[in-house]
Amino acid sequence: NWNMETFIENTVRKIREQIGRRKVLCALSGGVDSSVVATLVHKAIGDQLTCMFIDHGLLRKDESENVMETFVGKLGMKVVKIDARDRFLSKLKGVPDPELKRKIIGNEFIYCFQEESAKLGQFDFLAQGTLYTDIVESGTATTQTIKSHHNVGGLPKDINFELVEPLKTLFKDEVRKVGEECGLPPAIVWRQPFPGPGLAIRILGEVSEEKLHIIRESDAILREEIASAGLEREIWQYFTVMPNIKSVGVMGDERTYSHTIAIRAVTSIDGMTADWARMPWEVLEKVSVRIVNEVENVNRIVYDITSKPPATIEWE
Ligand code: XMP
Repeated sequence: NWNMETFIENTVRKIREQIGRRKVLCALSGGVDSSVVATLVHKAIGDQLTCMFIDHGLLRKDESENVMETFVGKLGMKVVKIDARDRFLSKLKGVPDPELKRKIIGNEFIYCFQEESAKLGQFDFLAQGTLYTDIVESGTATTQTIKSHHNVGGLPKDINFELVEPLKTLFKDEVRKVGEECGLPPAIVWRQPFPGPGLAIRILGEVSEEKLHIIRESDAILREEIASAGLEREIWQYFTVMPNIKSVGVMGDERTYSHTIAIRAVTSIDGMTADWARMPWEVLEKVSVRIVNEVENVNRIVYDITSKPPATIEWE
């Protein structure tokens, strides 16, 4: 539509004026906001933009490959992927406390970003996906008082860059429209929210490679089945959780003692409140059967039927 086109044209022109011939760095997460920012800045200044994508090892199945394929393969951007999987996992070793896990991941993200960006040379600007709501909400009571939120926008304020924040006047739905108009694939534009600390807060207690494998595989099955049932847009957010309990089961003639996986699916407008999704039983059954059959070391599936409040969407 006319307004959106004008917004994009004006924004691209303003970015060009602001940057001139200098260089911009953008922390790309594959989420909607950072993706749209990177795309707009790339439209404006092309290869003067470098994106940094940190793989902290807490991403969903195939996520890292998909990000690289979209932004490098399809959109032709310069993206440096940092493999920080060991670094984050070793920092999380022996840490069961949810808030501590969040803090460790948030801090490690900043250290990692600073170290790795220094290796890439000199940048004059940092492009960030700050939205209008981020500005309005900062300083007021938000969910941040309940959980310390971390996302790629959470970089330190004293960092030595000038900021480029082209989404500062937009709401989330407008960001999606800009993304669509700029040719970003629907999988990115309509991506469900994914927390900065990633799968680490969906594994209750200590994170390990083995648990990450289970959560990643079970989550992929859930997403596949929700997609094939055509429920992707109806359900606002859906994922699996590992409550860190083992229980007794039977497979064939054998007693098993394995992990429980919980399914979390909610409808919501903005994540502030949420209702548990009344998912068709047939879909739940298919997901349950597939996870138990296809993911090793899982013998029980439960469905979370609490709304927010009193529960939160994530379990940690
Ligand atoms: P809760 O669990 O508080 O989550 O009901 C509300 C929404 O926020 C997402 N979430 C996060 N997003 N960094 C983020 O960028 C975080 O640390 C974080 N923690 C929770 C959650 O997935 C839900 O959509």
